[in-house]
Amino acid sequence: MKKQENKIYTQEHYQEMYNLSITDPNKFWGEAGKRLSWIKPYTKVKDTSFDLEDLHIKWFEDGTLNACYNAVDRHIEDGHGDNIAIIWESNFVNEENDESYKITYNELKKNVCRFANTLKDLGVRRGDIVTIYMPMVPETVYAMLACARIGAIHSVVFSGFSAESLSKRIVDTNSKIIITTDGSYRGDKVIDLKSIVDKALEMTPVTNKVLVCGRTNKPMSWNGERDIWYNSIAKYMSDECEIEEMHAEDPLFILYTSGSTGTPKGIMHTTGGYLVYASMTHEYAFDYKEGDIFWCTADIGWITGHSYLVYGPLTNGATTLIFEGVPNYPCCSRVWNICDKYGVNILYTAPTLLRILKKEGDFFVTNTSRSSLRVLGSVGEPMQADLWQWYNDVVGNNRCDIIDTWWQTEGGGIMISPLAGFKQSKAGSVSFPFFGINPYIVDNDGKPAPNGTEGNLVIKDSWPGQARTVYKNLERFKNGYFSTFKNFFFSGDGAYTDQDGYIHITGRVDDIINVSGHRVSTAGVEFALNSNPNVAESAVVGFPHEIKGTGLGAFVVMKSIDSITDFKATKNELKSWVRKKNGPTEVPDVIYIVEDLPKTRSGKIIRRILRKLAEDPKSELGDLSTLSNQDSIHKIIDILAQ
Ligand code: WT7
Repeated sequence: MKKQENKIYTQEHYQEMYNLSITDPNKFWGEAGKRLSWIKPYTKVKDTSFDLEDLHIKWFEDGTLNACYNAVDRHIEDGHGDNIAIIWESNFVNEENDESYKITYNELKKNVCRFANTLKDLGVRRGDIVTIYMPMVPETVYAMLACARIGAIHSVVFSGFSAESLSKRIVDTNSKIIITTDGSYRGDKVIDLKSIVDKALEMTPVTNKVLVCGRTNKPMSWNGERDIWYNSIAKYMSDECEIEEMHAEDPLFILYTSGSTGTPKGIMHTTGGYLVYASMTHEYAFDYKEGDIFWCTADIGWITGHSYLVYGPLTNGATTLIFEGVPNYPCCSRVWNICDKYGVNILYTAPTLLRILKKEGDFFVTNTSRSSLRVLGSVGEPMQADLWQWYNDVVGNNRCDIIDTWWQTEGGGIMISPLAGFKQSKAGSVSFPFFGINPYIVDNDGKPAPNGTEGNLVIKDSWPGQARTVYKNLERFKNGYFSTFKNFFFSGDGAYTDQDGYIHITGRVDDIINVSGHRVSTAGVEFALNSNPNVAESAVVGFPHEIKGTGLGAFVVMKSIDSITDFKATKNELKSWVRKKNGPTEVPDVIYIVEDLPKTRSGKIIRRILRKLAEDPKSELGDLSTLSNQDSIHKIIDILAQ
């Protein structure tokens, strides 16, 4: 594979390559695309337009390839079949009888082929959509790659989602088969995944097969007509399976993410461009070198897991570490112990995890070696300068490259980030755009914001990793990303450039809230609350939270406040209601039961005021004359004071 000859050593070299990627994308990506093995090489590179009348995004359009072949087979053909593809670290620590294990590329291929043949045996064909609701086990990777091998499209649903959220996603894709496990382990918790799937399917008529892999081996309910125990058929399957020849623009996967309206959007990625971008960013942003042990702590159910647990590292022939458990189990040194156990060189994690561990005290870090670490990455939320400094000084002993990487589900891979390997980063900043990303920061009228002034982060022109549409909903794709600023892709984030040209992300400018790196739609949480028979209406806002970055505050108006005798119990009921509807990540941290919400004369809830009050009840609220019910504010302030 083309690796070290591409290495970037200086800012000038980066600038030169970057400029080429912007001024001559056909030349740049035409060359970069060769990092993959194509069945039929492409002759066309870029065919894209952000013009609403003619929106289209196509990369390497006439080339054909298979993503699974690129992630697995070709490394074997290159003589690297005995290299470790996956290190799996179990939830449990047991030095005498460690159940963690390693999988070589040879083994990976066999496991994936057996899985692929199982899917075929169950009737899965090219173009079918397969829902994967699984924890952090290697079988999840086999399932994804098996889909890619046979040309099926995977839709991985984060295993922390509720039955109802899972059901919505199954209905939207009309997926006929779900892959899951009997259960999962997270710290000292056992989660009964299969029963969540059962519940989801009670609400979902479409699915007719559930393929169950074993993990916890605990008793579970079983529907003999629908449920299939993976091992019982996989053992009859061959460990060889032909690859399907796919067009570069054939869908590889759908991944749901929160949208402003509360209904999740099925972000669709295609094969060629996505894979080029995931593998290239993995190599360049992290300065990946052959033999490196790469650990991304994200869950496989998010885009970070797709691109940097699976497709990026495996396409580059790397060793990717998958950790089943949680960072503070059995103790707060777990993450650093894992780094030492396997000699992790590159760690990619999120500010929330760092905040949790930082709070426990430096001792849990400093009592470990961490000498193998070279690059420390972060993603998902703004990383404040003090956290950056802690990551650098305490975790990295001041000798690692820190890269704060900004991107999003829609981007497919890292979009703005320093490149590790030479000093390109700065505390509190995501630094510079990756190749092919041409960011602008504009005011609400679309005019460039001067340096130092916050504006909307938009991207001019397409990059190969970009999502191609919202599944079955091109209109929503157009409206969501291309209609706010003409001829630009709108990220939904705010940002500014400092005097040295470094980019800083300030957070979402729409009604999405970033809670512990998870995208939560306020509308979605309000929708869940409002569907409770006792709730009249609600408003959800974000407020600064020590661990989560942003917490969720809900102001709820009950239909009959007088009948409430125990407010605490009512609030807890509402929390469990949201947990059941939307899953644990969307449960409000604080609920205020109020008599009325501040509204304009036309009846719109003024969230700006609630946001200020949730942050600090003593906030200066500014001009309240547009309110139809000024009284509501004083009552809310009283409630907050209690
Ligand atoms: C949103 C995307 C693909 C990354 C994982 C989350 C926020 C992401 C950063 C960062 C500040 C960040 C943005 C973005 N975000 N990275 N380094 N600094 N904010 O993917 O669920 O699609 O969320 O996460 O608000 O829009 P996602």
